[in-house]
Formats: sequence, structure tokens, C-alpha cells
Amino acid sequence: MSNPKRNILVTSALPYANGSIHIGHLVEYIQTDIWVRFQKMCGNHCIYICADDAHGTPIMLRAQQEDITPEELIAKVKLEHEKDFSDFHIEFDNYHSTHSEENKTHAIRIYERLKENGHITTKTVVDLYDPQDKVFLPDRFVKGECPKCHAKDQYGDNCEVCGSTYTPAELISPYSSTSGATPIEKENLHYFFKLNDFQDMLRDWIASDPLQPEITNKVKEWFVSGLKDWDISRDAPYFGFEIPDAPGKYFYVWLDAPIGYMASLQQYCDRTGENFDAYWKTDSKHEVYHFIGKDIAYFHMLFWPAMLQGANYRIPTAVYCHGFLTVDGQKMSKSRGTLIKARTYLDHLKPEYLRYYFAAKLGPGVNDIDLNLNDFQQRVNSDVVGKLVNIASRCAGFIHKKFDGRLTSTFIENNISAFQQAVLKNVDIRDCYQNRKYSEAIRTIMSLADVANQIIDTHKPWELIKDESKHDEVHQVCSFGLNMYRLLIGYLKPVMPELAKKSETFLNTEVCWDDLASGKPLPDGHQINKFKPLITRIEKELIENMIEDSTQDVLPVAADPINDEITFDDFAKLDFRIAKIIKAEHVEGADKLLRLTLDLGEPTGSVQRNVFAGIKSAYSPEEVEGRLTVVVANLAPRKMRFGISEGMVLAAGSGDKDIFLLQPDSGATPGMRVK
Ligand code: 2FM
Ligand code: ZN
Repeated sequence: MSNPKRNILVTSALPYANGSIHIGHLVEYIQTDIWVRFQKMCGNHCIYICADDAHGTPIMLRAQQEDITPEELIAKVKLEHEKDFSDFHIEFDNYHSTHSEENKTHAIRIYERLKENGHITTKTVVDLYDPQDKVFLPDRFVKGECPKCHAKDQYGDNCEVCGSTYTPAELISPYSSTSGATPIEKENLHYFFKLNDFQDMLRDWIASDPLQPEITNKVKEWFVSGLKDWDISRDAPYFGFEIPDAPGKYFYVWLDAPIGYMASLQQYCDRTGENFDAYWKTDSKHEVYHFIGKDIAYFHMLFWPAMLQGANYRIPTAVYCHGFLTVDGQKMSKSRGTLIKARTYLDHLKPEYLRYYFAAKLGPGVNDIDLNLNDFQQRVNSDVVGKLVNIASRCAGFIHKKFDGRLTSTFIENNISAFQQAVLKNVDIRDCYQNRKYSEAIRTIMSLADVANQIIDTHKPWELIKDESKHDEVHQVCSFGLNMYRLLIGYLKPVMPELAKKSETFLNTEVCWDDLASGKPLPDGHQINKFKPLITRIEKELIENMIEDSTQDVLPVAADPINDEITFDDFAKLDFRIAKIIKAEHVEGADKLLRLTLDLGEPTGSVQRNVFAGIKSAYSPEEVEGRLTVVVANLAPRKMRFGISEGMVLAAGSGDKDIFLLQPDSGATPGMRVK
């Protein structure tokens, strides 16, 4: 008898609506999607909910930069996010936005209840104020000189040059980024959520162990440093919801962000007729799980459960944190081309390769995981193509050629026991998925694939087929192989849903967990369909091309941390020269590149150089011919997809149309050293 079916609500963190999804985000969505697909495959009623996190200052700023309204920005980004997710087979049951009626209703309801229950207080604090525009200035609207490294024009909360964080009051020569006026200090009323009211309940919650051990320890440290009141108001101008009875004051983005989980569920329930309260009432037996990155644990372990409890709702069943993604052992970096947008990945590689690789790396803890690009290629090729799909491809041909595409359910004796052993493993694999030990599940599945391949190797059906009297054995071995394939692809279905679907078509059967666990092979005479290639190998070139394209991507500044420090000696090795662009051409098949022929001038003693530059979005070839540019003249030639690039052109700007080369009359001559 299988267990009674569970009702489960699952969420992933809501991505900000001011930038693209990149492979770092995908760790979480892939981890969650695998878990949800596994639950559904087991027959549980599981709803996977998400939304765009659409409020706050960075979104306002981004909209301003793009010269559109915040509403236009978030609508555009939402479409992009939804397409990226769906192309990665991340299958939400509902995807909404925090800038929605449902979210407004729930945010106000929660706030009102917190207020009624005495958990909201107000305090006067000193804020920076723009005396010209007569508005309080959020941190990001104050700019000035960094107090640490003295870089000019830095935001009020952190320096993009040296990375330090500070308060706007610490900036040297601060100015309002909207009016340019010098801000003054002014008293301002703020609304606070009294987190400390929930000490005991949070302590009990932690003790009931809904968290991973590493996180429990972190939360205990937070208790030691004390639970402080949380500032939940921001002043106009702010893109968000106005606080009731507090004109000009808005909910801080992090207040209504997690409420977005409820809003998205509300939209789902309104659409499907399901009962919203069944999930959120205090005595609910339904389960609620949040998957998040470890960086936002504070919000989900303290503020969110406290808000829920304070507003008479149930608290989550558990919160699961994961670590960050590194690429080739280092922080993702735009200049190395490893901060890869979901779309750039999809332009080159299949989503399931990454789903498989992440699954093969993910455990239940909060350790960072590394995408090693060589290992990625080898592992997918050897495991998925070489081991798993190989079982199907080597057996299918014989079944079609000699047995009319029909399987036998009679296996050779030792094959029966191998099959039964593999069926029994469903218990372990199920436990691994349930407890997010995906890497262990993958190891088990691949070791079973090894067993199947070894058995086929021992019988050598390709030899037996030459001898008419051995055809029964061929039939039995290949039928065993295809039954093993069905079992293993079933086990892998939450990770590789597309491969599983194609395999189901080929095997002419659908797989769910209970069928697999029943241990019954496909019935005698079951007819399979023609085998078509199910997945192709990853060629190295595809990865190289993706990295190359990725260096050209435009991403929000915040997602592009500064590279590891270099010494002055490293810097002094770079030889920057002025060069003249004597020819510029389109490159067939390249969206972002122009091929430039550069003249480096007399002093370098050099002839012409061929350099590829990602400036096509800003310049046509005709516009750049005759212009000057700065080039890194001593960079080793690099093989790119379209040819050899013999240097690197430097240009300033944020990308897209905003890229600037030097003018021909800028007083520089080709060959001059740039100091
Ligand atoms: O850190 C982030 O990307 C946030 N947008 C996550 C919000 S999750 C939830 F609380 F809404
Ligand atoms: Zn600085």
C-alpha cells in the first residue's frame, strides 16, 4: 500500500524584476523543480508557486535608466523570466508578481493584523532629505565620495569600486542624485515590526528542527546578538504599496516580497477553485516548504515566520537553503564570461545537461557547488549519453530487426535478479529525492546503469545475433536492457523530464513511481516504437561559444562583483595603445561582434591586427571606420568561434547603444602608449 497522498505547497525565492536570470539563480529553481516533480510523480498533490519580486528602489532606478515606467519594466522582465524558466523545464503551477492586487490585499491584511495584535510600532529616525525636491532620499538616491577609497559618485549604501558598505551619512560630499542638492538631515517617522515579540515562538520553531543544522546554528547566533525591531517603511518616491493610514509611506520591499508567495497561491486558487485557507490556517495539515539561497535566510527564518504567526497564519513546515554557484572554482565573473545568463546558456546548450549536472552535485546542505566546465562536459557525456542512453540504443535495433519491436517478459535468470535488485533500489532513491540528496540518487542510478551495461556486454547480443539458435537469448537480453532503461529513466524523470518524455514515447509507456516500485517488467509482447536519438553529446566548442557570448551580455551592475585583486605588477604588464580602425565588417552568425582591422601605427613597428569587438549594438561598421580606439596590444592571440582575435579593444559605456570609442580628432595618434 502506498502512503496517503500529501498536500504540499512549494516555493522558490522570487527573483527581482530588474535583471535577467543567470545560472547562479538556476541552482535553486532546478533544485526545487526536481523536488516538486518527484512529489508529483509519487502522486502527491504538490503546487509549485513563484512570482517576480517587483518592488523597491533598484527597480525604480533601473526603470529610470531605461526611460520607462516601473510597470513597463516589470512587465517586460516578467515575460523574460517566465520564458527562461519554462525553457529550462522549470514548471511552476503559478507565476505571479508582487506588484499585484492579490499581493496588495494580503500585504495590507497582514499589516493590519500585526497592528491589531500590537506588533507594529513607530519611531523617529534621522534621514537624509533633499531640500530642493522636498523628499526623503533612499540610500540609492544619495551619491557621493566613498569614505574608504574616495571613488567619486558612489551610491549611499555601497561603493562599486572598493565594495565597502556604509550609511549615506558617511559619504563625503553627498548629493541628491535627482536634484544634485546637498542633502540635509531631517527627522522622519518610520514604522517598525517588533520582531522581539516572537523570541519564544522562533526559539521553539528552531528547536522543532525544520532547518538544516548549519542554518540552525546561524539562527542561534542571531538570537545571541538579539532580535531588533525591523524597519518596514520607506518614504515616497518608492515603487511599492502605500501603508494604510500613513500617506507617503510605503512597505519596504522585503515586507511584501514573501507575502508574494501567498499572492501567487491566491491567484492559483482563484483560477483552480482550490481552498487557499487550507494551506495557511493555523491548524493546517498541509505542508509548506520554501527553497531559498543561504543569503536570504534571515528573512525566511525570522521575519517571515514571525509575520505569519503575528497575523494569525500557520508557519512554514521547513525552509531549505542551498549554497552559491562557483564556476571553475571561482566566483562567477562577467569578464571571464562565467556569469552566464539563462538565455545565453540556452542559445548554445540543452537545459537538461545543466539540470543533470546540478543534480549530480546537489546535496541537502548549504555548501557552494561548483560548475567545472570540463567536468560538466565529461560527466554529461559519459553518464547520460555513454551509460544511460547507450542501454536503449544498443538494445532497440535488435528488437526491431528480429522481433517486430516486441519485448519478452522472460529474462535470463541472473538478469531477473539484477532487475529485481534495481527495482528494490527505488526505496533508497526515493529517500534521496525526498531529502534533497540528489547527488546520491544520481550515483545510485548510474551504478545501476553500469550493471545493465555489464550484463549486456557479457551476453554480447551483437555476436549472438549471427547464430539463429541464439535468438531467444538476444530477445531476452535486449528486453532486459530496455526494461532496465525504463526503470532508470523513470528514476531520473524529475531531473530530466524531456529525456524521460522522449523515452516514454520510444518505450510506448508512461512511468510513475508506483509502477516502477511494483517491479513488474513491461508485459510480454509489449511493442516499442522506433528508436530515435534521444540526446546528443556536448561538444567542447558549444561551451566555448557560450562563454564567449556571455562576455558580451548586459547584466545589472549589482550582479557583477569586482574580480579578484591584481597586483600593480600585473597591471603594468598590460600595454595599452591607440589604434586606428581601418576596416570594420559584420561577422556572419555573430549577434554582437564586429571584425575590426586595426592599424597600431609606426611606434609599435607592427602591421595590422584582426580583432573581434562586441560593439555591434552601438556602431555600424561604417561608423567606426577611421575612428580611434584603445587596444590591449600585448594580449596573446585567442581563437574565437569566428577566427583569431589579436588583441582587445577597450570602450566605455554600459552596453547596448551606450558604448563609446575615441573620436579620430581626439589628439591621439596610432601607436601612442596610453598612460
Ligand atoms: O534576494 C532576492 O532575490 C529576493 N528577490 C528574494 C525574495 S524571496 C521572497 F521572500 F519573496
Ligand atoms: Zn570605495
